Amino acid sequence: MLDRLNAVAPDPILGIIAAHAADPSPQKIDLGIGVYRDETGNTPILASVRKAERILLDTQTSKSYLGPRGVPGFNSAMQDLIFGGSSEPSQQGRVRTVQTPGGTGALRIGADLVKAAMPGAKIWASDPTWANHYAIFPAAGLTLERYPYFDSELSSLRFEEMMTALSERGPGDVVLFHACCHNPCGVSPDSGQWDAVADLAADRGFLPMVDLAYQGFERSIDEDALAVRLFAEKCPEVIVASSCSKNFAVYRERVGALSVVCAEGKKAADVETVIHSLTRKNYSMPPAHGTALVDIILHSAELTELWLREVNGMRDRINGLRQALAERIAAAGIERDFSFLQRQSGMFSFLGLSVEQVRRLREEFSIYTVDSARVNIASFNDRNIDYFIESLQAVL
Ligand SMILES: Cc1ncc(COP(=O)(O)O)c(C=O)c1O
Repeated sequence: MLDRLNAVAPDPILGIIAAHAADPSPQKIDLGIGVYRDETGNTPILASVRKAERILLDTQTSKSYLGPRGVPGFNSAMQDLIFGGSSEPSQQGRVRTVQTPGGTGALRIGADLVKAAMPGAKIWASDPTWANHYAIFPAAGLTLERYPYFDSELSSLRFEEMMTALSERGPGDVVLFHACCHNPCGVSPDSGQWDAVADLAADRGFLPMVDLAYQGFERSIDEDALAVRLFAEKCPEVIVASSCSKNFAVYRERVGALSVVCAEGKKAADVETVIHSLTRKNYSMPPAHGTALVDIILHSAELTELWLREVNGMRDRINGLRQALAERIAAAGIERDFSFLQRQSGMFSFLGLSVEQVRRLREEFSIYTVDSARVNIASFNDRNIDYFIESLQAVL
């Protein structure tokens, strides 16, 4: 039977990582990879996470199964982080948060939940969106459509076109939003625009699903959750898939959460049982280690303060690099306007290069990125930024 299967092409990012690793050039740069990097090029373990790990080692008494809800303290702390400590929907018992293996696990269980509730529902995602969104929703049996979002000519949001397209959506449609730090384009609605989108969702009756993978990486923990909080305030139902991979830097530990807001507390309790049945037949029980670390951090005032400082540090470094890149590209006399880098946020932006220019960067300068010219801003540092700008100038 297995003989019928043919090889599947690997994710292009994996090819980039392998080609970069094999390149002997001392000046090589990997701009493709999707993880935060510090000034030395490392993806560090946060000090808050290290401390939590020591506490966990000293206090953990069992490796028995967690049970379908996972770590209850994690779920409630995450709910506070996402919706705000005293959010009305939480106080009304209309929100349920369940830990998942990463943000990807939350997206997949969220997709399964939509499929279970309404098998014919359609998912509408921004054009473009994170590459894995295109795979996750169809894998759950849902049709994925796109709405206009990124204007590649102006490197900005196509807000009016997005609103026009979304005003045609209604009950039976799920509209997927990136709460902040849009991956791949780095462009987010401003607070007034989010308000208008939430009003539209409430008015038209489509179900907002929010992917919150970079909370704290754009402005602050609270400001980056604005979209979620507006939807939760104005709409009867919301689904949120959140990830701790980036903001706690626990990528490989697979920590995330699926939150659902329902019209009534009773229904939220019912929906939680459906989530448990979906996870049970998928991976049976959730993983414990990374979730326990986040639980420890968020229940210690001292560790929370340390963690917040570390999140701010990662965000400030990315924003500083955005500013340095935009200014130094202009100072180098490059005519093309790259000031959008400074207006965008999060780890990713499109450089607006052709496939041919991307290929030249790779082959002539050992600078690796995907064909779309999406770059990870956190890959830059003081040692490589000038070399990158010279190389960019050469291929433009
Ligand atoms: C937009 C977006 N959503 C979700 C995820 C999933 O993150 P995780 O590694 O926690 O599954 C990512 C990770 O890159 C992402 O960029």
